[in-house]
Amino acid sequence: MSGKKAKEKEATISDLLIEERKFEVPDEFRKKANIKDKDIYKKAAANREKFWAGFAEELHWFKKWEKVLDWKPPHARWFVGGKLNVSYNCLDRHITTWRKNKAAIIWEGEPGDQRTLTYRDLYREVNKFANILKKLGVKKGDRVAIYLPMIPELVIAMLACARIGAIHSVVFGGFSAEALRDRINDARARVLITADGGYRRGSIIPLKHDADHALLETPSIQHVIIVKRGDFPLHVKEGRDHWWHYHMEEAESYCEPEEMDSEDILFTLYTSGTTGKPKGIIHTTGGYLTGVYATTNWVFDLKDDDVYWCMADIGWVTGHSYVVYGPLACGATVVMYEGAPDWPDRDRSWQIVEKYGVTIFYTAPTAIRAFMKWGTGWPAKRDLSSLRLLGTVGEPINPEAWMWYHKNIGQERCPIVDTWWQTETGMILITTLPGIDSTKPGFAGRPFPGIEADILTEEGVSIQKGGSYLALTQPWPAMLRGIYGDPERYVQQYWTKWDKKTYFPGDGAKRDKDGYFLLLGRVDDVLNVAGHRLGTMEVESALVDHPVVAEAAVVGIEHEIKGQVIAAFVTVKEGNTPGGELQDELKEHVVRKIGAIARPEKIIFSADLPKTRSGKIMRRLLRDIAESKVLGDTTTLADATTVEKLKKHYEEQES
Ligand code: WTA
Repeated sequence: MSGKKAKEKEATISDLLIEERKFEVPDEFRKKANIKDKDIYKKAAANREKFWAGFAEELHWFKKWEKVLDWKPPHARWFVGGKLNVSYNCLDRHITTWRKNKAAIIWEGEPGDQRTLTYRDLYREVNKFANILKKLGVKKGDRVAIYLPMIPELVIAMLACARIGAIHSVVFGGFSAEALRDRINDARARVLITADGGYRRGSIIPLKHDADHALLETPSIQHVIIVKRGDFPLHVKEGRDHWWHYHMEEAESYCEPEEMDSEDILFTLYTSGTTGKPKGIIHTTGGYLTGVYATTNWVFDLKDDDVYWCMADIGWVTGHSYVVYGPLACGATVVMYEGAPDWPDRDRSWQIVEKYGVTIFYTAPTAIRAFMKWGTGWPAKRDLSSLRLLGTVGEPINPEAWMWYHKNIGQERCPIVDTWWQTETGMILITTLPGIDSTKPGFAGRPFPGIEADILTEEGVSIQKGGSYLALTQPWPAMLRGIYGDPERYVQQYWTKWDKKTYFPGDGAKRDKDGYFLLLGRVDDVLNVAGHRLGTMEVESALVDHPVVAEAAVVGIEHEIKGQVIAAFVTVKEGNTPGGELQDELKEHVVRKIGAIARPEKIIFSADLPKTRSGKIMRRLLRDIAESKVLGDTTTLADATTVEKLKKHYEEQES
């Protein structure tokens, strides 16, 4: 890892910032904003604990905390001694108010089917399903794996786990059977909740069928609960497999919420890092809920009459924090859509906005770039006048895409919040507050009140000018509490770059004179493919697992829509012939090991890989080759001819 990489990235991104433009939020918006006090940044910084406790006080606690923060770097405990239940806060707290019959979830399936669940409906379903889990022997602290499409049952299952104190581990439906198996085994989950299938671009994703492959090697699983989404063929194993709907018919309608300690685990969520093995990020109860509640309220300026739509799949952290827990804790109406944005046509998203009168829309730059490519005709066909705020997350947004979003979706009326955060941070940390800050295309903004961020050099020196490493210098309520089953890796990975008090997110950043942060992308071996996090090592391990592969090096190369795609340089074992067929086979192999999101765009065969004298693969050079750039510095190479040969060979393969 080097500061060089941050500098390289800075150069490319700065090129994109043709001019620094500032957009003022319209007065009309500003006047009605949830938070308009310009001094809030200063006030929060003066007493961070008091600031966060203020949000926590708005939630329901069975027992109040004794201490807001116990910080023994790098271990934090928030709202120490407090007792609460997340499902109680997302449901019971609302059904005793006028929100009882307010829509909690407005759901649309890809084929066009619709369901609306009021807070009362959601409460009833969650209570019933919590009782089913209990009947199957699930207890507080047990792990429950969830492998579902974007259907209301996914939210119900998560909240039911939270109600009884079981730890959920949601696995994105696009992950392969092997990826599911590894996540189940790492967590030693007792129960798997899945579905017969789900719809994506008109096809059926056969989730139970895939899960059956995983289940051949998951000894901890005792029960499988299957949601019947369609009428898709599947195998049911007597005694182990149960239909969701059969059990729901008979389930008791009330389940006492478990009084959870503020620091009890709410969920784990696996994410990619710099090794071959994804890590189970741990989030706990009180701090996490406080963090997502606060940010949903202020960043999205959420009001009771809003119709809020975050396009993210719940399989990712954005879905956990900003489809489920944040908005439901706020009592919002959440739109949920099962399928692809271009099915059956490229205006599906805008059709949904028009149909339900969506007011807040949150998506990723990769989606915005796809919308851009499809053309302005699609959104122009639909009435988008209900929209009042737009958001973006997942990767740096190029100013061109920002401007397109602002003009064609926001119709120059809606502020855009560019939100920087991570699976590990649990909550949005850097953004603009729409009632206070003006926005600048390409810049995420300032640290949220109560959050302290800095830009540090390798040596830990804070710099005002130029690009370097982003650092978080104070604990925050929704921060990760560890890596499941690997406490050592937690410390190593995040808290050893400088000192044990400073968190290293793995991103490069720079800031301007107003203190706005511009994110420069990852500075470690983590890729961001269409907003999805993938480790280069993870993909390399998948490739090397194939019997003919001797060695593999994976790099991310720039892509117009996806931001990055994967290029894999592969050395085959002697006696094997590299060629088009093997390229296809290797791509499929990676899909089988990880999932379609990891399918390499390019496989480049090579007799050798460029390495430093100490044997480290020089990914930077490989990136240059794959992006067909002039080769960078080759002086540290063990054998400088390797890379020239490889470049020539690559150009021949490409032509
Ligand atoms: C990147 C997604 C620039 C960043 C919530 C981070 C961003 C990684 C932004 C986390 C943004 C996320 N601007 N980069 N607004 N938001 N990132 O864990 O590199 O899937 O480290 O969490 O996405 O990805 P993750």
